Amino acid sequence: MNERSLSSEAAPTGGGLLGWINARFPLTQLWRSQVSEYYAPKNFNFWYFFGSLALLVLVNQIVTGIFLAMSYQPNVHEAFASVQYIMRDVHWGWLIRYMHTTGASLFFVVVYLHMFRGLMYGSYKKPRELLWILGMLVYVCLMAEAFMGYLLPWGQMSYWGAEVITSLFGAIPWVGSSLVIWIRGDFGVTQATLDRFFALHVIAIPLLLLILVLMHLIALHQVGSNNPDGVEIHDHLDPKTGKPVDGIPFHPYYTVKDLFGVGVFLIIAAIIVFYAPSGGGLFIDPSNYQPANFMQTPPDIHPLWFFTPYYAILRSFPNKQFGVASLALSVLILFGLPWIDCHPVRSIRYRSWAYKAAVVLFAFTFITLGFIGEAPATLFWQRMGSGVALVYFLFFVVAWTYARRPTPRRLLLTLAAVLAVVGFLIWRFYLPSIAGLIWRTSLVPIVYALLFLLVPVFVPGLLRDRPVPDRVRMR
Ligand code: HEM
Repeated sequence: MNERSLSSEAAPTGGGLLGWINARFPLTQLWRSQVSEYYAPKNFNFWYFFGSLALLVLVNQIVTGIFLAMSYQPNVHEAFASVQYIMRDVHWGWLIRYMHTTGASLFFVVVYLHMFRGLMYGSYKKPRELLWILGMLVYVCLMAEAFMGYLLPWGQMSYWGAEVITSLFGAIPWVGSSLVIWIRGDFGVTQATLDRFFALHVIAIPLLLLILVLMHLIALHQVGSNNPDGVEIHDHLDPKTGKPVDGIPFHPYYTVKDLFGVGVFLIIAAIIVFYAPSGGGLFIDPSNYQPANFMQTPPDIHPLWFFTPYYAILRSFPNKQFGVASLALSVLILFGLPWIDCHPVRSIRYRSWAYKAAVVLFAFTFITLGFIGEAPATLFWQRMGSGVALVYFLFFVVAWTYARRPTPRRLLLTLAAVLAVVGFLIWRFYLPSIAGLIWRTSLVPIVYALLFLLVPVFVPGLLRDRPVPDRVRMR
């Protein structure tokens, strides 16, 4: 516990039941140190809703998941029918299932917005590196949880999705094929796979998620929240009270603010659950309304929307090993963000115009990759995917360069290195295919590199940061 929570040690134990509990368990002390006397910056905005919303969705997933598990049968002959039984015969079964499927998608919406907030306000920078890493571990667990849960209804896309994704591990040199059998528990996706995915989905990963989320929150309370200005509120303490002058107690101010966010979120979630539970095929794939058939491949296999950006990266190189390595790198690189972007200015508000544009374009790139991953696996989309996937990685090159005194010489050297890598990739993978298409798609990363690494050489004002205020500014 840090010095911010020490004041609560003087918490009176009180009388009655509370006093009895306090004498045996530090309930009032915990409430004070972690909630009512936990000081958070007073300038939180819209982007600070998503942490508490992620907690809400986590609880929803666990509670609805427990009820689903009461009627679900983890058996290849009965799994699909048991889901239909939940939908038609179990009292309120349809509601519980739709709350769980919608919750899964909304979990990713909320977590992506939560991560983007971190990116905008530099919330991963010192002293919050570990907080960010714990968040990333939560994210990876969430991906595993969603992937394993998707196999359980044993529909067409459940089966073929698991078949394709587990086979990816086969691309790992030497151990690949043994690893695939080890993960599946069999030579194909069978009862053994369903058994282990069920156990992992309902027990192991939720437990891990809960532990990681708890660690995430402990780390947050150790270092304190960042804010849209990126200013440390604990640098300015009131000489009389010793409290941060730019902070307010979490309770009641942010409990009330978060409750408003919960209200709006529940309205949106209810509209989806009651009026559009399959989200136009985005939340529940149409082919998952058919039972799994290992004799018939669906015309187009793709994961649910929240994985499609990574799926586009996977498909973007006509070489399985390279595709799998790029997919792994696209997630792993996010772990390294605190060291890639170590620019002293935290918040995007005071960063240069060039960096602002790079961050906005990064979000746009991720969304575009999502659309490309959703599209059929034609040559055109594969080539478009490779162009946009390179832009995804180039963002990190740009962030790295901008964080380390980007002199014209350094910008030009980075540009030369980027052009050499893009040129190598074109030569290595694309030269034998249609010429026009190569040019159009390889232009995407080249234009991006010129824009962010060459233009600032001639317009240095684009790289100029704004002065950071000493204390938080209210808007
Ligand atoms: C189940 C998933 C998650 C839950 C329940 C969760 C919960 C929270 C909560 C309650 C907060 C404080 C409120 C707020 O700042 O919005 C927070 C802050 C934070 N989270 Fe998460 N989080 C999750 C996932 C993630 C992920 C995936 C990342 C990034 C990789 C992340 C990074 C951060 C950071 C950097 C902060 C501090 C932000 C700041 O102070 O500006 N979190 N989280």
